[in-house]
Amino acid sequence: MSDFFTDFWSYYIAAIALVGIVWCVWLLFSQRKVTKVVGAPEDTGHVWDGDLRELNNPLPRWWMWMFLLACIFGLGYLVLYPGLGSYAGVLKTSSRVELEAHRQAAEQLQREVYGKYMQMDVKQVAAEPAAREIGQRLFLNYCAQCHGSDARGSRGFPNLTDNDWLYGGDPETITQTITKGRNGVMPSFASTIDGKLAGDVAQYVRSLSGLSSDPIRASRGESTFKSTCAACHGSTGKGNQALGAPNLSDRVWLYGSSEANIVDAILKGHNNHMPAHEEILTPERIRMLTAYVWGLSNIGGAGEGGKQ
Ligand code: HEC
Ligand code: HEC
Repeated sequence: MSDFFTDFWSYYIAAIALVGIVWCVWLLFSQRKVTKVVGAPEDTGHVWDGDLRELNNPLPRWWMWMFLLACIFGLGYLVLYPGLGSYAGVLKTSSRVELEAHRQAAEQLQREVYGKYMQMDVKQVAAEPAAREIGQRLFLNYCAQCHGSDARGSRGFPNLTDNDWLYGGDPETITQTITKGRNGVMPSFASTIDGKLAGDVAQYVRSLSGLSSDPIRASRGESTFKSTCAACHGSTGKGNQALGAPNLSDRVWLYGSSEANIVDAILKGHNNHMPAHEEILTPERIRMLTAYVWGLSNIGGAGEGGKQ
């Protein structure tokens, strides 16, 4: 109702509702003669099936009272609950207030379920099978559409089960990633590097991780890499987690390791976005997810904290 510019529509709707009920009561009483038995009931003169005569009997008393009660119930309802224009009702109920109450109750319940995990170290939480189950369900709900239900990612979406991290794999960094999101930006170098030189640089990049490469072209690309790319990816291509610049000397690729993939990165750049979840997830849920994600690459195998 508050969406209306003036109170007119509020009064209009209230008037229709009230007039409707008053009209019903008036209708009942205006037909009172029909409700009173005065002598024998009137015979309408209609005869059916030879001997079935139609009488004009008064309304049954129980029916009359039900009708009146329904009107009184209607009025009572309109006093207690919203229904008369913008009047909120004595009980002030609204679906918004109810939703908020349900949400708070659900959060309270969550707090009780998650409570014990909040006191524990994230790494301990990750080791608890029950906590991992909660984490996995949350992951399937909120993260799987991008990272895959097995968290192994796909082109452009990082694999979260390996020990290779764009931003870092310690619990604090994972929490920060989920809470605030990330923006991985690599500018395009099309204005300073032409296609041919880009291919040479790509050959050099491939040589960094021991992939097959043409040594002559790679050496032609090396100086450009050192002058242009090293600022973010490091002089040996090990990357920089503060910038989310990937390690180019390992065998893990976000977009692929072919010369064409790397030339694409150089000429077109990349702009990759992991959305912030602080508005979507409670801190408790983010903690459960942090433990789950940390556990994916640290429980039952690889070393602590991921590759730093
Ligand atoms: C809309 C797609 C999308 C959703 C949803 C999403 N992510 Fe991401 N996530 C990405 C992308 C894209 C990146 C890589 C960002 C970059 O390249 O800078 C990323 C990066 C990450 C990283 C950093 C990985 C590293 O190597 O440092 C973590 C951790 C992560 N996501 C966890 C999650 C979790 C947990 C959820 C669920 C709450 C989630 N993501 C939901 C798209 C998404
Ligand atoms: C300003 C910092 C910056 C510079 C300079 C830069 N990059 Fe990047 N590069 C990034 C970031 C950040 C990403 C990750 C983008 C993403 O998250 O999608 C990236 C991604 C890449 C990738 C994709 C890696 C993969 O795993 O698939 C390649 C290849 C690459 N860069 C090569 C280069 C080359 C070659 C140069 C020099 C011509 C260069 N970059 C210069 C920041 C930079």
